[in-house]
Parts: sequence; structure tokens; C-alpha cells
Amino acid sequence: MLTNREILEKITAAQKEAAELIMHAHGILAEIKTGHRDVVTEFDRKVQELLIERLSTALPGAAFFCEENSRRDSLEAEHVFIIDPIDGTMNFVRGFHHSAISVAYMSRGELLAASVYNPYVQECFTATKGEGAWLNGRPISASYLPLSESVVCCGTSPYNPELADSTFELIKKAFIAGLDIRREGSAALDMCSAAAGRAGVYFEPSVSLWDVAAGMLIVNEAGGRCCCLDGSPLPLDGRKSSVVAGGSQAVSDFLALVKA
Ligand code: IPD
Ligand code: CA
Ligand code: CA
Repeated sequence: MLTNREILEKITAAQKEAAELIMHAHGILAEIKTGHRDVVTEFDRKVQELLIERLSTALPGAAFFCEENSRRDSLEAEHVFIIDPIDGTMNFVRGFHHSAISVAYMSRGELLAASVYNPYVQECFTATKGEGAWLNGRPISASYLPLSESVVCCGTSPYNPELADSTFELIKKAFIAGLDIRREGSAALDMCSAAAGRAGVYFEPSVSLWDVAAGMLIVNEAGGRCCCLDGSPLPLDGRKSSVVAGGSQAVSDFLALVKA
């Protein structure tokens, strides 16, 4: 049986191999999924296939809960990898160079290892349960600052335009309460910015499990906090949810702002 560290090594090796597909991509064609903002490319699918192939070899019989190709095995499996092959597909399609490969390993409902890799700047955010969180092997910690001294990363939940009014109202409140806001286009990297203390808080009204699963472990292991916008725990059963993540003081300030 592999240790969580050994599983993490298998994940990061597979991510770095898959990253070559992203870095050498050309002729990127966006295909529409659920709506004009929700797109996929052949590279999303190829990255996912490569990760499944390498991780199945590393852990035979493992289950996979992935964004693309409707690959949604049981999240209750003993070994399950939760994969977003390219988080920030719109950035990838439009050449913003801010996207990541996000992989979490979960066993019996508990996140045990996670890695989010941004190939454009070669930043690899990782964590293993109970052992800490790292950026390229160096320990990271969430911010200790209050919301008033924090940069706030936000997501606009682009696939849920019915949430736009409440989302932008909250973004305005966050802008006024904090230092400034950022909308960078990758939920997985936003979680990591919160884990590394770059952002005091990241929030988004609706995300999928593959957007945030790896980031959840990384934020928690960096000493931060993540939960839904009503303060309840983030679900690990595959339901969509809201998310707020960051340093514990800034997150509690943010939850108070949501209620205000
Ligand atoms: C999206 C990005 C975006 C966030 C959306 C996600 P995708 O993921 O993370 O920043 O606002 O909620 O769905 O579709 O690029 O994998
Ligand atoms: Ca995503
Ligand atoms: Ca994606």
C-alpha cells in the first residue's frame, strides 16, 4: 500500500507529464458543453485521459470522479481521484496563461493528498493530510490578516448566470470591505492563492467538487479554513456548493459580511 506522500508523488509526476499537452497545445478549438460560457477542448480530454491512465497504473482499481467525459465513479470508493484536467478552460482557450491541473486523492470520504499545478509559471501547490501544505516543496500558510487588510479573489460562477445579481452585489461588498478584488479565472488556483496567503479570502457562489477538492486540503493544511457561504462544511458527495476559503480571521469576517 502506498503512503499519502507516495500517492502525491504519483499525482505530481502525472500532472507534469500532462502539462506538456497544455504547454504545446495549438489549434485550440472550444466546443460548447452546457452553454456558451461552458466550453471544453480536446486538450481537457487528453489531459484527463493521461491522468487516469497513469493513476490507474499507480493504484490499480482506483475510482475517478472527473469533470470531462461524464467519468463519475463512486466517491465512496476506497481510492478515488477527483480531477479537473484544466481548471480555467476559458483562460486556456483565450491565451491568458492562468490555468491548472487539479487532482485530489480521497479515501472513504477523507481527502488525503492533493496537488494543483500551474504549468505556465511552474507552481505546484501540494498537501498531504496532517503533514502540511507546500508550494514547490516549501511550506505555505494562509493569511492571518482580517478582511480589511486582504485582497479578495472571487469567482463569478459563469455557468449560473441566474446568480449574477447576488454575486456582483457580494463582490461589491468585498471590494469595499477589503483591499481590492481579483477575478483570475481558475477556482483551483484561487484556492491556492488563499492557501499561500496571497489572497486573504477566495469566494464563489457555485462551484463543482472537482474545482475545489484539491484546494480544500491545501487550504486546510496551510492552516486556513474553507466552508460554504452559510458557514456549513463543504460537501464531498459531488453536489455543487458555494465556497469561501482563506485565513480564518478573514473567512469569519467574510461570513459576517455575507449575513450583513
Ligand atoms: C471554472 C473556473 C472558473 C470558475 C468556475 C469554474 P473550468 O472551471 O474555475 O474560475 O469561476 O466556477 O467552473 O470550467 O474552467 O474548469
Ligand atoms: Ca473547473
Ligand atoms: Ca475544467
